[in-house]
Amino acid sequence: MNSFISQSNFFEGNNPEKIVSDYGTPLYVYNERILRNRMHNVSQVITKYPYTANYSVKANTNIHILKIALEEGLNCDAMSIGEIQVLFKAGFPKDRIFFVPNNVSEEELIFAIKHGVMTSLDSLSQLELFGQCCCDLELSVEKRTCAVRINPGVGAGHNEKVVTGGKKTKFGIAEEDIPQIFEIAEKYKLTIAGINQHIGSGFMDPQPYLDAVTNILRIALQFKNLKFIDFGGGYGIPYHKLDDEKDYPMDDFKKRLEPILDDFVAKYGSTPLFKSEPGRYCVAEGCVILGRVHATKQNNGHLFAGTDVGMNVLVRPSMYDSWHDVEVIRDGKVVPRDELTDQNLVGNICESGDILAKSRPLPKMERGDLACILDAGAYGWSMCSTYNSRPRAAEVLITKTGKVKVIRRRETIKDLMRLF
Ligand SMILES: Cc1ncc(COP(=O)(O)O)c(C=O)c1O
Repeated sequence: MNSFISQSNFFEGNNPEKIVSDYGTPLYVYNERILRNRMHNVSQVITKYPYTANYSVKANTNIHILKIALEEGLNCDAMSIGEIQVLFKAGFPKDRIFFVPNNVSEEELIFAIKHGVMTSLDSLSQLELFGQCCCDLELSVEKRTCAVRINPGVGAGHNEKVVTGGKKTKFGIAEEDIPQIFEIAEKYKLTIAGINQHIGSGFMDPQPYLDAVTNILRIALQFKNLKFIDFGGGYGIPYHKLDDEKDYPMDDFKKRLEPILDDFVAKYGSTPLFKSEPGRYCVAEGCVILGRVHATKQNNGHLFAGTDVGMNVLVRPSMYDSWHDVEVIRDGKVVPRDELTDQNLVGNICESGDILAKSRPLPKMERGDLACILDAGAYGWSMCSTYNSRPRAAEVLITKTGKVKVIRRRETIKDLMRLF
């Protein structure tokens, strides 16, 4: 693909130079049409049995994007009481939120219990704490309901740092400790209504996920009367789309998932609600970052294009060595990728690791160009920081009708000063 921006009509007819002249750089730009399309796809993963897709909001917690998820019929997973509160503010009712934290304080558990948000406990010690909280709050037995996160002993993902299942990771309760789950549940009169897992992120081959589904359904047979079983998130997106990488094979995945569920339902004797927890798939491709090239240079034969998209704006390349495709925009138009020169696209942060793209064949960049970083909607703004005292970027949404709407104003230095 020569240009995702042109092919997808990402800016819906708006001139990107006009957008940044109105809102500045660096700028997160979202496309509502693409966001809704991806959210709709994940809501249809299972159609034969009761199913909900829980959007994992850690990927992107902008309240306007959460409102789109609400309209698209998604439920949500929250990792903290901050995320629960943003979800309430976006209009999600408590029964559409699933709290899946790890290592949280008593106060956070009490917040979730008091607000009636279903919570999954990620260790025996957190399950014990949850039981104690229920006793301290003198909760009736009917209300002492929770889930547990199982560590299936296997994981998968695009980088070791995003593999969350497996014997060496901090997440979930090991299968061998399941008898102790029942002991703690008995002690505090808890009902274990659901089990969940998440093996990792960003895989393009459905097989590890299907294996993990088979595995958790085998484990589920040890639990009686489960109301729900949550398979986790992790569906990848084509970060190398300019090199014609294909989409996650959603249709093929769905076809292969169904017989696994059929087999389980026949054995279990009842049909629980099935859930998944996609984050990246919902939001990554519906967003680009526009950054200005402020300088170009040659250092010992290496070409650099210096932008205002530092690791404070998008940390994934420095944190996970992640690849983001880049397009170059000059005078409002995408520069065709006909003649390419190896360049290093870097930010303005005082760190040698502040690199967006290393030795990347790109159209030769000039000062004043815009670098357009693709697939930035997941773990983009939600992981950004104010490192080097740089205020965080603004976010705009291009609506289905092509209107450009600010969905988060740019942070200011005054905002940063307010905390001192
Ligand atoms: C528990 C849990 N669920 C869901 C997700 C979402 O994963 P992804 O964005 O890869 O779909 C994550 C991400 O790490 C997670 O930790």
